[in-house]
Amino acid sequence: MKIAVVGVGYVGLSTAVCIATKYSTVAIDVNEARVLNLRAGKVPIHERGLKGLLTSGLESKKLGFSSSLASLASCDAVFITVGTPSAADGSIELSQIRNASTGIGAAIRDSTKKPVVFLKSTVVPGTARSVVRPLVEKYSGMNCGNGFGLCSNPEFLREGSAIKDTLAPDRVVLGPFDDLSLRLARTFYEGFYGRNGPEVLVTTPEGAELVKYGSNALLATKVSLINLIAKVSEKFPGTDVQDVARGIGLDHRLGLHFLQAGPGFGGSCFPKDVRAFRKSTTDFGLDSSILESVLKINEEQPQHVVELAEKATSLQGREIAVLGLAFKPDTDDIRESRSFPLIWRLLERGGKVRVYDPVAMPAAKTVLKSRVVYSTSAQDCIKGADLAIAMTAWRQIKSLTPADYLKQMRSPVLVDARRMYDPDEYGRKLRYVAVGLGSEDRRP
Ligand SMILES: NC(=O)c1ccc[n+]([C@@H]2O[C@H](COP(=O)([O-])OP(=O)(O)OC[C@H]3O[C@@H](n4cnc5c(N)ncnc54)[C@H](O)[C@@H]3O)[C@@H](O)[C@H]2O)c1
Repeated sequence: MKIAVVGVGYVGLSTAVCIATKYSTVAIDVNEARVLNLRAGKVPIHERGLKGLLTSGLESKKLGFSSSLASLASCDAVFITVGTPSAADGSIELSQIRNASTGIGAAIRDSTKKPVVFLKSTVVPGTARSVVRPLVEKYSGMNCGNGFGLCSNPEFLREGSAIKDTLAPDRVVLGPFDDLSLRLARTFYEGFYGRNGPEVLVTTPEGAELVKYGSNALLATKVSLINLIAKVSEKFPGTDVQDVARGIGLDHRLGLHFLQAGPGFGGSCFPKDVRAFRKSTTDFGLDSSILESVLKINEEQPQHVVELAEKATSLQGREIAVLGLAFKPDTDDIRESRSFPLIWRLLERGGKVRVYDPVAMPAAKTVLKSRVVYSTSAQDCIKGADLAIAMTAWRQIKSLTPADYLKQMRSPVLVDARRMYDPDEYGRKLRYVAVGLGSEDRRP
């Protein structure tokens, strides 16, 4: 089988290097500089295991990169993994999907292979049917199910564990339009995962698209709900949302995952997907207030962290260390990271901000420019600071001890926005404030 992956971002690159462990794969992107770098073995993103698979794929010649769609004519399957960002009104912005569908249609026009197009990008229900299918049909001059196949096939990998998730996903969801694509999907995934692979769920194209939005909406709802519970916990001295979350999560119907209070969810998926799902449900004339509340609570969280800090110290003229810029550890992705709305607010309040992140500094510099000072390490960042706000639970930040904060800071006030430290240990030794922790000065 020969496979193409169109769109070589976080998802496309992780997908391509994994597929190339089994099948001959060409990964195609409009970004020529990215293609050239990848051919030279340079990874553009921080993702565990990616470099090794890229190198072995290139060496074995099973993996190639191109900025042209011409090679699609000889492919059996084409995975669409282009971006689906938010438009200004929160709806999904489909220009990358339209361009990819048009290009794929034109490129497979003379194919003798009846290729199957898999739509992995996250799209609102109905997009494969109303956007991708007509464009591929128009530009290929063929009918879906006849000259080519089409299958919704949402992606669930998480940044930070993208390779692991691709090699061993919880499930594969298929929404085929035609028998051709279902047959090829089964052959492809059975060949890739073997007979004891993940459960394969087959539903309609719209059902598959909804599984993705439903999953992300439910996960985001858990985060916003625990952040609401965190605010209630803060009203009662000594009450800790961590205990409450554990008490809730030990119920096997609920589970402990995604009950971690913090500065809110960020990243390239949850915020935009919940916004797009809200817009799409509203367009159907449905009440989307549950999703509105999830987003509203999330938007308020950075401001809430600022308020927690202000209860402990004034911000005007203070040296403030923001620890962590990536939206979560093990990635350099800063898209919709909560650190940025936090930093803008701190600057508005007259704070002098210095920042540190082990891998996301280059990306952050393009946004923060000269508004902040860039530190070379976590220790360097807190040196001489009046306030530290821990935002991303990187190992380098989690490993700062109370003694480090006491030794390095001018006036040691620590806001644990991500709940990465033990409140008993840190609270006894320094002024420690945390999301979801009823305030109680524990210092002797
Ligand atoms: N990032 C994640 O963790 C994740 C997880 C699951 C699903 N998704 C979904 O997967 C999709 C891709 O996400 P991402 O984070 O990888 O996006 P990304 O922005 O990192 O990558 C998109 C890539 O597509 C390329 N591209 C755009 N138009 C193209 C075209 N016409 N032809 C070829 N290449 C083109 C861009 O240059 C870019 O490199 C989105 O729909 C996203 O919602 C993302």
